[in-house]
Amino acid sequence: MMRLDKYLCEAGAGTRSEVKELIRRGRITVNEKPAGKPDQKISETSDSVCLDGQPVLAAGNVYYMLNKPAGYVSSTVQTDGPSVLDLLADAPGKGLFPAGRLDRDTEGLLLITNDGKLSHDLLSPKKHVEKEYYAKIEGIVTEEDVVRFEEGLDIGEKRRTLPARLLILQSGTESEILLTIREGKFHQVKRMFEAVGKRVVYLKRVSMGSLTLDEALAPGAYRPLTADELLALKTPKGKSNE
Ligand code: URA
Repeated sequence: MMRLDKYLCEAGAGTRSEVKELIRRGRITVNEKPAGKPDQKISETSDSVCLDGQPVLAAGNVYYMLNKPAGYVSSTVQTDGPSVLDLLADAPGKGLFPAGRLDRDTEGLLLITNDGKLSHDLLSPKKHVEKEYYAKIEGIVTEEDVVRFEEGLDIGEKRRTLPARLLILQSGTESEILLTIREGKFHQVKRMFEAVGKRVVYLKRVSMGSLTLDEALAPGAYRPLTADELLALKTPKGKSNE
């Protein structure tokens, strides 16, 4: 049994205050009778909850794009700092977790979901899903670095990194680059630059597979994925009709 307002929120009917208003206005029925109070207890499996006569189904999988700000850890619990999930405290959905990790000081695209299968598919080392990062680098990034990234680097793992695409946007005492990698080793981008004697001073993920960070999202803001974004993400590369 659970509270009606919680059920409605998690099913995506609105925020806590919006669903309270729906109940107050008599737009919610439980087993065809107008709902009483927001704290009314309902059974997720046997009661029929409707909004304006349409069934409100129990929450399924949910998918959010978060623009992660620096200072938050990509875990479900607070370890050494606030968790990215603290930013989605009001988001409907049960059992949310970040699909993958960004370092505490890294910003940008993070998918927050409760879909274990999709997360596994995106993160599996065998699938080689591309991740693109924008970074500011202390030091001059050169065409020689581009070649070395393409050849793979020794970052202290058993194997060299897979070929990575490095694009120099601006080269100077502080350079700006875009880097596309197909793995997700711990601190990978920072370690790749260390391997060529340079230091990452700012890092932001801009895409993961088909999903690109919505630049309209300020750091700390999130939104549900659109139906098209979700479809593209669930369609493995090479299997779309395009
Ligand atoms: N590579 C890093 O070094 N840090 C991140 O957060 C992501 C990729």
